[in-house]
Amino acid sequence: MDDQDGYFGERVAAGYDESSGEMFEPGVIGTTVDFLADLAGGGRALELGIGTGRVALPLARRAVRVHGIDLSRAMVARLRAKPGGDAIGVTIGDFATTRVDGTFSVVYLLYNTIMNLTTQAEQVACFRNAAAHLEPGGCFVIEVMIPELRKLPAGQNVVPFHVSPTRWAFDTYDVATQATSSNYVEVVDGRGEYRSIPFRYVWPSELDLMAQLAGLRLRERWDGWTGEAFTSESARHVSVWEKPAGRP
Ligand SMILES: C[S@@+](CC[C@H](N)C(=O)[O-])C[C@H]1O[C@@H](n2cnc3c(N)ncnc32)[C@H](O)[C@@H]1O
Repeated sequence: MDDQDGYFGERVAAGYDESSGEMFEPGVIGTTVDFLADLAGGGRALELGIGTGRVALPLARRAVRVHGIDLSRAMVARLRAKPGGDAIGVTIGDFATTRVDGTFSVVYLLYNTIMNLTTQAEQVACFRNAAAHLEPGGCFVIEVMIPELRKLPAGQNVVPFHVSPTRWAFDTYDVATQATSSNYVEVVDGRGEYRSIPFRYVWPSELDLMAQLAGLRLRERWDGWTGEAFTSESARHVSVWEKPAGRP
């Protein structure tokens, strides 16, 4: 791990936007931005873990005033280098505890990033921090995967998700502690490299309880950004909790 930038140091940041993953497809980014822009109305938006601005930049182009918090200077440098990147305010810090000025009509946390907080206490602190930034009636949005425990036969704790001649990737799960990790083994210039990122997996019901502790209540939960129903087969969810109007 890079001390200053957490698990998103220079090397990860340099390749982040090169991903061919679904999250980088223009259609997926478009529906994400539509959803968040609708929720923001004419108000401000705060992205926790803004990264390279994958979503913040197109959201800002929709005339939403976006601010971000991120630990990684390396990721934020990529955001800054993109057109419009220098117009977005970013505070360097831990999004579980860092406060920024003003209030927001939407605070959002995408792409499994709640799982980067590796203890329950940090995840609860994040909900409280999000709630503290919301104006009454404002919403906190999280996009996160459903833990893939149904892929684990009894006695096994590893879920492979990529196999190729030069790259292997797998998740590990500890069902006693909810600790999980994503692991990557790659052959680069004839040498093997290994990288591991720790996470804490979390169920929708536990997130609802964290929201309750922070004074928020569930408004809606979807399978994705275009209003697909959330079901027992959903692989992820987009959840929206609101701060009741009249609450400071
Ligand atoms: C998977 S990337 C997501 C970036 C962006 N939100 C997106 O959707 O493309 C996670 C980001 O969260 C940041 N991050 C992880 N844990 C953090 C924490 N505790 N406080 C602040 N930023 C954090 C990382 O530096 C990284 O930029």
